[in-house]
Amino acid sequence: MPLSVLILNGPNLNLLGTRQPEVYGTTTLADIERDCRSKAETLGFEIEFRQSNGEGALIDLIHAARGRHAGLILNAGAYTHTSIALMDAISSVELPTVEVHLSNIHRREPFRHQSYISKVALGQICGFGAFGYQMALDALAHHLRRPA
Ligand code: DQA
Repeated sequence: MPLSVLILNGPNLNLLGTRQPEVYGTTTLADIERDCRSKAETLGFEIEFRQSNGEGALIDLIHAARGRHAGLILNAGAYTHTSIALMDAISSVELPTVEVHLSNIHRREPFRHQSYISKVALGQICGFGAFGYQMALDALAHHLRRPA
């Protein structure tokens, strides 16, 4: 059975392509999904690719991932900076998690410098645009094949 990874996207990421292209680029979420699917194939992974604007829906998807997926790639959007509930959901299911952001959150407004997700993630990839998702898949493959 191939390893399966959940790639989860939070609020407003459904608007990628038209949303503040000077910050987030012109790649759409559908483009990112397509690229993740071909990258996952080269790594021998299956993926489930989801997006929700709701904090509760994201938490439900993380809970449902337990036992079904070997790892999580999460761009929680603005919930990154506010959601103790999402952080707790990741701790609860104990899934190795790679945090992704298209933009470099550390050179943006101070309120974006704090990440609750980082406190429970293996690591954070930010600032490389859509390519960050490819990097996250590599990072997860490395981790899952050679756990620390
Ligand atoms: C983001 C960064 C967040 O601060 C912002 O709220 C987003 C997108 C990113 O991918 O760069 O919605 O997660």
